Amino acid sequence: MTSFLRPLAYRYRWIYDTVTAVSSLSVGGVKRLRSLGLEALRPHLKPEAAVLDLCCGSGEAAAPWLAAGYAVTGLDVSPRALELAAQRYPDLKRVEGLAEDPPLADASFSAIQMSVALHEFPRSDRERVLRSVLRLLEPGGWLVLVDLHPAGLWLKLPQQLFCALFETDTATAMLEDDLRSQLEQLGFSGVNQELLAGRALQRITATRPR
Ligand SMILES: C[S@@+](CC[C@H](N)C(=O)[O-])C[C@H]1O[C@@H](n2cnc3c(N)ncnc32)[C@H](O)[C@@H]1O
Repeated sequence: MTSFLRPLAYRYRWIYDTVTAVSSLSVGGVKRLRSLGLEALRPHLKPEAAVLDLCCGSGEAAAPWLAAGYAVTGLDVSPRALELAAQRYPDLKRVEGLAEDPPLADASFSAIQMSVALHEFPRSDRERVLRSVLRLLEPGGWLVLVDLHPAGLWLKLPQQLFCALFETDTATAMLEDDLRSQLEQLGFSGVNQELLAGRALQRITATRPR
């Protein structure tokens, strides 16, 4: 089930940006939220490494990677979001396509980021997306996922409200699942999970085995 607010938030940018600003307060603000992927993987990567921002939207979470000098490709299914990304971040190489079946070459990235996007996929598609990530990463390459996690006591109610207003059933399903175990089962190694923002957010890093 989806509330009427979700399509509005995708249609009117100011609604999306305001919701993001409010919901990111618990992690220290939008800037910090957008930098969580880079923060985690920077120590593992060579300068100018090839990075994919999978489901990049309008490019806000790709921006810190670009500023740090990486060669960043952003993939998204939405031409509208990619158009906005082109205006805001002209250095971002943009690819329109499905994260479940990305039109990109095997082993072509040193790192892949998914920033608050995996919860958009139903369980079966989520597995396809994660298998695609394994295919696209070079051996020893890194994945970083930043996404929802069941919140602790204080943020439980706000998280439920947020999901009811702006998310779909796929987000609720993801909150029931153990992403760490799923990644291990699919063949990722070194899976590490950190809980942030009163446990409402998880950041997971993992590698494709060499
Ligand atoms: C919540 S937004 C996150 C955007 C961006 N990662 C960020 O942190 O701002 C989710 C994005 O996933 C994209 N998306 C949803 N389903 C997709 C699919 N099957 N393949 C590629 N992108 C998809 C949407 O178009 C949207 O831009």
